Amino acid sequence: MKITHLSAECYPIAKVGGLADVVGALPKYQNDLGAESSVIMPFYNNAYTQKNEFEEVYTGTVIVGRQFDFRLLSLKDNSLGYDLYLVDIPELLFTPSVYSDYDTNRFLAFQVAALTWIAQDAQKPDVIHCHDHHTGLIPFMVSHCLAFSGLAHIPTVLTIHNAQYQGWFSQDLITLLPEFPASKFGFLEWDNSINPLAAGIKCAWRVNTVSPSYMEELKLKANGLESLLRNESAKCSGILNGIDAEVWNPETDHYLIQNYPNSRVQSGKKANKAWLCKTFGLDPSRPLFAFIGRLVGEKGADLFPEIFSNVLSSHEISVLLLGSGHSGVEQQLRHLKDWHGGSYNCYIGYNEELSHIIYAGADYLLMPSRVEPCGLNQMYALRYGTIPVVSSVGGLKDTVIDVGDGGFGIRHDYVNVGEVCHAVERGVRLYEDQATFRKIRRKIMKIDHSWNASAQKYIELYESII
Ligand code: ADP
Ligand code: GLC
Repeated sequence: MKITHLSAECYPIAKVGGLADVVGALPKYQNDLGAESSVIMPFYNNAYTQKNEFEEVYTGTVIVGRQFDFRLLSLKDNSLGYDLYLVDIPELLFTPSVYSDYDTNRFLAFQVAALTWIAQDAQKPDVIHCHDHHTGLIPFMVSHCLAFSGLAHIPTVLTIHNAQYQGWFSQDLITLLPEFPASKFGFLEWDNSINPLAAGIKCAWRVNTVSPSYMEELKLKANGLESLLRNESAKCSGILNGIDAEVWNPETDHYLIQNYPNSRVQSGKKANKAWLCKTFGLDPSRPLFAFIGRLVGEKGADLFPEIFSNVLSSHEISVLLLGSGHSGVEQQLRHLKDWHGGSYNCYIGYNEELSHIIYAGADYLLMPSRVEPCGLNQMYALRYGTIPVVSSVGGLKDTVIDVGDGGFGIRHDYVNVGEVCHAVERGVRLYEDQATFRKIRRKIMKIDHSWNASAQKYIELYESII
């Protein structure tokens, strides 16, 4: 079974968030199950593309407003566990960052170029698997654009990693798309805009979200797409993300200060915590609560300044935050150091290495998300013996069971300052009961959240439409 994934992000080539982790791991696990999965993504100007060698497999042109030349490159070595192809359109895609202000043209050109290559390739995929709105127009183009009529029989799958972002653009830009019969326009339009995510939901043969609970939530609240998802529910399902258990393994993770198997969780975490506390001027004898992620409303980040002020004033704890996002929140979080130096610190920015050490060294990982389609951080935390403190939404609900219900994490029902502070207090009390705390640590490290089970579910989904 030949599967072609298309995505804007893929770890380790280019990562902004969890989308990259998923697209970088799922194909590898699918190949272990006997599939032949590959990834097509844009060729960005970043450390990975500068360091690695690529060979040209195809050259062509795309017309998006005007004509652009493109090259299809493939990674020379096969270290990733799947074939990687990159669409090189120097004028549009060769940027240091994944996203920019010109994404309509950039990702449209990427999608047209990728399909142009697939259309002329002798070996067609059995399934085209699109991820998020950046590749959401592909199911439409495959089904309805005249230039790609030779691909119309190929089943398409759209995975929604985050329905907040839909890639909307004005109907005036419709001429950017390759030619299609005017009668098909309705597939592209939603609420008076061209909506790539909506078009993907309408045209893909199957649609899935990255956790079962998120699928249900979207039918009620999906940034305007609720009724569409309810109408299309017969072809929609939720498949929980997994984690790459080779990359995220505390026994072998080369970023860690000290590696540790389950049997040495206590000493291993202690060494990583000691490094963090020394580096960030925190007291290692206190429970360390951490946050890693995008500082946006979906993650509840706007509440952090108040939450941290409250809990740091009333409890002997340490807090360490790694993230970037909303500039106002970033500024408030930086200011907080002036008031709570010695018990609070933050690193504003993106730092892959530090994130791994935090998963290893923290006692608790905070995730007070308002929306969390799946969330990978809580699964990384579990694997590293760090207890997740999460809101009861989306994938968090599907992966974390509260200690009060015989589980291993701390969950709160609502996302507000009071509830999160109460959840932190529960963490403080649990930390005081070291016997139970250590028992939970050992237990959570054994939970298998690797991609094995979910990669198989995707294969079954493909089989149902091939
Ligand atoms: P989302 O994709 O919504 O941001 P996920 O929980 O699915 O959330 O995945 C986030 C991924 O990005 C994780 O791998 C997390 O470790 C990583 N990450 C987020 N922010 C940072 C940061 N500032 N530095 C390093 N890694 C980060
Ligand atoms: C999105 C979601 C996140 C999910 C990730 C990978 O970025 O916000 O919850 O884990 O995609 O699917």
